Amino acid sequence: ALTYPFHGEHQAGITTPAQDRLHFAVFDVDDISRTELIGLLQDWTTAAARMSQGSSAGEFAPDAGPYEAPPEDTGEAMDLGPTGLTITFGFGPTLFTTADGDDRFGLAARRPRALVDLPKFSGDMLDERISGGDLCIQACADDPQVAVHAIRNLSRIAFGRASLRYSQLGFGRTSSTSTAQVTPRNLFGFKDGTANLKAEDPEGVDGHVWVGEGDDQAWMAGGSYLVSRKIRMNIEPWDRTRLSEQERSIGRTKGQGAPLSGGDEFTAPDFAMPGSGGQPIIAEHSHMRLAHPDTNGGARMLRRGYNFVDGNDDLGRLDAGLFFICFQRDPERAFIPVQTRLAGSDLLNEYIRHVGSAIFAVPGGTSEGGYVGSLLF
Ligand code: HEM
Repeated sequence: ALTYPFHGEHQAGITTPAQDRLHFAVFDVDDISRTELIGLLQDWTTAAARMSQGSSAGEFAPDAGPYEAPPEDTGEAMDLGPTGLTITFGFGPTLFTTADGDDRFGLAARRPRALVDLPKFSGDMLDERISGGDLCIQACADDPQVAVHAIRNLSRIAFGRASLRYSQLGFGRTSSTSTAQVTPRNLFGFKDGTANLKAEDPEGVDGHVWVGEGDDQAWMAGGSYLVSRKIRMNIEPWDRTRLSEQERSIGRTKGQGAPLSGGDEFTAPDFAMPGSGGQPIIAEHSHMRLAHPDTNGGARMLRRGYNFVDGNDDLGRLDAGLFFICFQRDPERAFIPVQTRLAGSDLLNEYIRHVGSAIFAVPGGTSEGGYVGSLLF
């Protein structure tokens, strides 16, 4: 069975080859003490370490333990194996200081500078109910039931200490995080993840994903910052759009995912190559060009998002899109400048709408016996 180690220098679920399924959950902490918060993180760590190795969430198997008590594990993953489960924890800005400035856990002075409140981007149509939050858990696995089981049991463990604010299911990874993976496609039918940062590029990952020792707050060393954006895709207008316009909007071909300047999927784009009418062949406002490091002072991030379809809306349109997730060393030098540029003039904007948003500080990994985020306390 595919198993990734839980303990290590970094948390799993970042450079881990992107699994097929996601259950992303965001919690708000209840009115508890600092000691109780630490207790929650310890209990979560223990259960997450167990589940990611294919064990039950608690000490007893779902069908064992005291007969007159609820089982310590809900049981629906019993016969499935770990299927590559990773569980990644993050801390939102409001864990450090509440919206009205309350330093409830004595953590305000330890909030990293890089854990900024994201600015409002042009075109944002954010729904507060699916934005923000104190704590996040990203569960990824190749079986959806295994990912859901992980979130369900961690929610159960949090009872009375933290409450679920929102959660999102995702399928069909929209990125590759390893050169060993083929590039998947998003719901617009284009290959997504071609130019992503990959685990096999240690220089890129060390430079752009992991927080360094001297970056900011020492407790964040070996960690990363997660930005999530729920992006609704207007599927029906897109499906009535000409192929030439679809390719112009992305800047790549639909079939191979090659840049419009030629070559194959992994050929570097030639932004200077002229097209018709004196315009460059890769349009100035194509998504790929606007998001490319050359347009953004070298900014790079590790994208790790998933497709979603949450049924349909009242008008009979698919409620579908991309649950975008990215990891980076400093959002002010990666997601924020890139999204500012995209929000301004991306040709894709006609077909997408950002409806949810959040940012989390993802601390480094833990060793056996430790708990996630222990260096913060
Ligand atoms: C590249 C789709 C949102 C950042 C791409 C590519 C596609 C794509 C098809 C080209 C293949 C690749 O290199 O992966 C989409 C869709 C989005 C979306 C459909 C929304 C529904 C975003 C957002 C960001 C972003 C919100 C970050 C703010 C990037 C970056 C690249 C990229 C950095 C690589 C550019 C390069 O270096 O060539 N995207 N994307 N994308 N996208 Fe997006």
